[in-house]
Amino acid sequence: MITGSTRGLGEVAAIALAKAGANVAVCGRSRTDLQRVSATIKDLDRDSDGFFLDVASKESVHQGVKQILKHFDKIDILVNNAGVNHREPVMDYPEAAWDLVINTNLKGYFLVA
Ligand SMILES: NC(=O)c1ccc[n+]([C@@H]2O[C@H](COP(=O)([O-])OP(=O)(O)OC[C@H]3O[C@@H](n4cnc5c(N)ncnc54)[C@H](OP(=O)(O)O)[C@@H]3O)[C@@H](O)[C@H]2O)c1
Repeated sequence: MITGSTRGLGEVAAIALAKAGANVAVCGRSRTDLQRVSATIKDLDRDSDGFFLDVASKESVHQGVKQILKHFDKIDILVNNAGVNHREPVMDYPEAAWDLVINTNLKGYFLVA
């Protein structure tokens, strides 16, 4: 299970783990990319599917993991990768951006783990 595997480092980790023999639950919010990355994994002869999972939402995490366990029975490896970044000088840093970063990068990791 790799959160944020619809692009970037998570996508690269998904392909690397598939090449190493893992079946991969591709997770994220972009439905197009969920299908695209899981199709790439299937082309490597591993089992894969895309699972909608917003790491910042407890309900979404619960539903996503439920669907993953229905498909794969168990999760052997979690790559807690999904994250966002917002760069701005601290005095100008918008509160909404702070909340997004903390809810995704801190609370999100906790909820998924
Ligand atoms: N790239 C670097 O140099 C670097 C350096 C240090 C740390 N990091 C960290 O490594 C991680 C991946 O970085 P990256 O560069 O690969 O980022 P990226 O290309 O922006 O990809 C971020 C991934 O996280 C997912 N994501 C974001 N918010 C989400 C949410 N609420 N729920 C579920 N998925 C969410 C995105 O998927 P959807 O849009 O489909 O939801 C996407 O797959 C991040 O945590 C980042 O902070 C990166």
